[in-house]
Amino acid sequence: MPTVAGGLEGVVFTETGVCFIDGTVGHLLYRGYDIQDVAEHLSFEEVAYLLWLGKLPNRQELETLHGQFAAERDIPSIAYDVIDALPPNTVPMDGLRTVVSFLSGTDPELDDNSADANYRKAVRLTAKAPTIMAAVHRRHFGLDPVIPQPTGSLAYNFLYMLSGQEPDEFVAQTLDVALTLHAEHGMNASTFAGRVTVATLADMYAGVTSAIGALKGPLHGGANAVVLKMLQEIGDPDHARDYVNNVISGDYVVPGMAPRRVPGFGHRVYKAFDPRAIVLRGMSKKLGERAGDSRWVDISNAVVEACAAAGLNEKGIYPNVDFFSASSYYTMGIPESLFTPVFAIARMTGWTAHIIEQQSDNRLIRPRADYIGEKGLKVVPIDQR
Ligand code: CMC
Repeated sequence: MPTVAGGLEGVVFTETGVCFIDGTVGHLLYRGYDIQDVAEHLSFEEVAYLLWLGKLPNRQELETLHGQFAAERDIPSIAYDVIDALPPNTVPMDGLRTVVSFLSGTDPELDDNSADANYRKAVRLTAKAPTIMAAVHRRHFGLDPVIPQPTGSLAYNFLYMLSGQEPDEFVAQTLDVALTLHAEHGMNASTFAGRVTVATLADMYAGVTSAIGALKGPLHGGANAVVLKMLQEIGDPDHARDYVNNVISGDYVVPGMAPRRVPGFGHRVYKAFDPRAIVLRGMSKKLGERAGDSRWVDISNAVVEACAAAGLNEKGIYPNVDFFSASSYYTMGIPESLFTPVFAIARMTGWTAHIIEQQSDNRLIRPRADYIGEKGLKVVPIDQR
């Protein structure tokens, strides 16, 4: 008889060379490189190259990648028409999912799952994601899209396309670091969804569309926006302890979050401080100091203390990557509705790296469920039911 692993916890379905996590000590490696080293020394573009090709680019290889990104950044005009046609209430993550799915029909290499074609599709999808997001966001406010620039990093271009203004250099660099921190994270729910989809030999766009759908939920990438709601509700560091205690006791549920859950805390794998949260905490502090407004990082730190005082650390529950992202993005001036899309833009690299890996040595992914329903029932004619 099979044993049930609720939530597939502890189940290993494949070998991978993309990412290593030791959650007991908070250790994360991208293709062998420690995340602290990655965050300090690599640009998002270098990380993309590393994840896709398994090695760091030299100067010329990086320049070539910058050129490929620049060439692939804009989306076809029919994709702008699709964005125009989105129902007004469409949230940005759903806009991204819809447009990525739509773009499958414009990719001449859709059904070519060779390593070379998959690399080019990964570049295309990653280059276009910020353009789609910025256009969906501007459309929501009745603004025309801003066409991407041929120069500058992906982070710079995203900020530029949001406002149509040259972004602050420090903010663009800080966003670049945030993107590197979100680029990859092993067999998380969205990456798994993407791998399951392409393991049927469906194409990369199908896999990424599945992954975007999975990332949206508040137990996964959607948590960062819920964290901001919580910080705004708390409003003052002195209110954090009562607020957190009410959430943990179940007396209050943070809007959009499951009962008794503090958003931005807890992780299936980490039972120690998430190493990405350490970098993001420093980022949030620096951004607050620079903006002359440390309120959001102060409230965040008060929540961390309140959770520790409530005994969550003893249960292995610490801040995860979504916690300090909220105060960081907010202080950068990124609208809350784009918090999870920023995660999606970054994770496009990890998703596509895993899709390439899956397709290089594929086996259909197909678990089982333990049946607990009835057996032996007979169909009763409809007028006797
Ligand atoms: N606040 C309070 N208690 C928690 C939390 C939390 N955020 N997370 C887990 N717990 C408790 C939970 O109540 C349970 O306690 P008990 O054993 O007494 O019933 C125990 O920890 C184990 O919880 P679980 O639901 O079995 O853990 P899981 O591995 O299935 O869930 C999680 C992981 C991330 C869904 C969960 O920690 C959670 O809901 N966190 C809040 C949402 C969030 O921040 N999500 C982002 C995840 S990390 C980045 C990403 O993927 O986007």
